[in-house]
Amino acid sequence: MKPIVYLCIIAVCLFTSCESSYVEAPEPIPAVSFNNDILPILVSNCHSCHEIGKVFPGLILSTDKAYNQLLFDGANAPYVNTNDPEASKLYFKLNRDMPPFGLLQSNEIAKILKWIQDGAKND
Ligand code: HEC
Repeated sequence: MKPIVYLCIIAVCLFTSCESSYVEAPEPIPAVSFNNDILPILVSNCHSCHEIGKVFPGLILSTDKAYNQLLFDGANAPYVNTNDPEASKLYFKLNRDMPPFGLLQSNEIAKILKWIQDGAKND
């Protein structure tokens, strides 16, 4: 057989094997930014209580303090665990009782988990 025939056979094999092993990729989770995606959720749902003079001043969730409070200087910081994101105190409370009068929407909780999984960066 001529080399071109071999090449054609190889090409056809590659093509068909690619096609048969093709698996639908899962819907990619869009990248999450702390300042654009996470902070607005915390400030609008949590800051009313999580502030000096309010019911839980140990963890201040204001625009300027939330990041440092969650990672470093809140009463029981860190509230995020990037080695085991689902074991984070923040994630635990979001699935259990925070905010106390009705949990966040599941896509908001998913965004916060994704942010922790991506390294809990101040971006
Ligand atoms: C109605 C008031 C209120 C709102 C709103 C609220 N919290 Fe809380 N939060 C509390 C109180 C009171 C505590 C202390 C008692 C407890 O741990 O359950 C607390 C405790 C916590 C703790 C544990 C702190 C620690 O050091 O043990 C976390 C984490 C937390 N809240 C996160 C949030 C987040 C995130 C939101 C918004 C999505 C939120 N909370 C909204 C009142 C509130």
